Amino acid sequence: MERTSVGIILNGVTGRMGYRQHLVRSLLAIREQGGVPARDGSRIWPELTLVGRDENRLAEIAGRHGLSAYTTDLDAALADDAHQIYFDAQVTTQREKAIRAAIEAGKHVYTEKPLAEGFLASLELARLAAAKGVRNGVVQDKLFLPGLRKLKRLVDGGFFGRILSVRGEFGYWVFEGDWQAAQRPSWNYRAEDGGGITLDMFPHWHYVLEQIIAPVTAVTAVTATHIPERVDETGTRYRATADDAAYGIFELAGGIVAQVNSSWAVRVHRDELVEFQVDGTHGSAVAGLRDCRIQPRGATPMPVWNPDLPVTEAFRAQWQTVPDNGEHDNAFKVQWEAFLRHVVDGEPFPWDFLAGARGVQLAEAGLRSAREGRRVTIEEIPR
Ligand SMILES: NC(=O)c1ccc[n+]([C@@H]2O[C@H](COP(=O)([O-])OP(=O)(O)OC[C@H]3O[C@@H](n4cnc5c(N)ncnc54)[C@H](O)[C@@H]3O)[C@@H](O)[C@H]2O)c1
Repeated sequence: MERTSVGIILNGVTGRMGYRQHLVRSLLAIREQGGVPARDGSRIWPELTLVGRDENRLAEIAGRHGLSAYTTDLDAALADDAHQIYFDAQVTTQREKAIRAAIEAGKHVYTEKPLAEGFLASLELARLAAAKGVRNGVVQDKLFLPGLRKLKRLVDGGFFGRILSVRGEFGYWVFEGDWQAAQRPSWNYRAEDGGGITLDMFPHWHYVLEQIIAPVTAVTAVTATHIPERVDETGTRYRATADDAAYGIFELAGGIVAQVNSSWAVRVHRDELVEFQVDGTHGSAVAGLRDCRIQPRGATPMPVWNPDLPVTEAFRAQWQTVPDNGEHDNAFKVQWEAFLRHVVDGEPFPWDFLAGARGVQLAEAGLRSAREGRRVTIEEIPR
């Protein structure tokens, strides 16, 4: 079958996300399935150039996966007309500079979230990309997870009646690094290196709420650095300067209230690492990464508050599992396929820089709310 080759620069490919989710689970998987169908009947075929700071590590990754193109010279890669797309999965602090250069070089740009460290910088990237006429997108992987797709299907099908509230619980224990190695990179716990759970997770909660439930109109947040000292990858003790927990109340259009707890200092007593409970007049649902359970109005029990009696009902057992009704591929891969079709065929791609900027706007508003101890309203961004 004829191929439509698309040259992609992959920056940050030695990192957790860049390697596992974007290179292996998305782009190499797309090649293994024979590309992505294009409108003209050909298959869109990603040609990959790995970019990073350490040539040996790039060579090792390239060799492991039968790739030949890698370089530590981003400028040279950007200057090469064989590349149409620049992708960024670097640490957040390095992103803005690299994306500016990519736009300047006329590349289409796809990037991990957050788009930049600040809202104004994110808006500026959106403006520059629009002015240059390059296609642009930000990873919003949670939208493509099976559990949240089933939740969206319930919303679209009118299952809830009027939606009243959302309760989100996200987090797990990230080891301090002293007696067991931390399972997240240490920069996540240093504000000066782009860390902090608010900047990390509020962009996710923004698109999940906006696209599945309703747009966010205001936020009230309390943040904390519960673990003030950690041990890094080299065994050195450091001060945690970034927030490791964020307790947010989000007001949504239509009077819906969403509360989302995000924490790297919580132990999991849940079925999944993130869960959202949505309550509506006609039914409720609990959605995780993979599963989604419902309780319709007609099957709602009538608990009576009486602390003198033991629990009389198995509340969890009363919920019903929502069926998959189809295949659910890797969330990052599904969004990559959409971005490739956007670049090659101009298919719609709503998860653009402006959408990414709104996520950073919410993170910034959450941090301001916590700092100033007040509710912060979210200004609408004019298109
Ligand atoms: N979509 C998601 O669910 C999700 C999950 C985790 C992280 N992320 C985002 O992905 C990005 C990367 O996160 P990660 O967890 O893969 O981090 P990581 O530390 O594992 O990887 C960071 C990458 O950036 C590179 N890098 C470039 N310049 C650097 C510098 N000056 N200092 C340190 N590293 C530098 C590293 O070599 C590495 O390839 C972040 O922006 C993060 O917000 C997204």
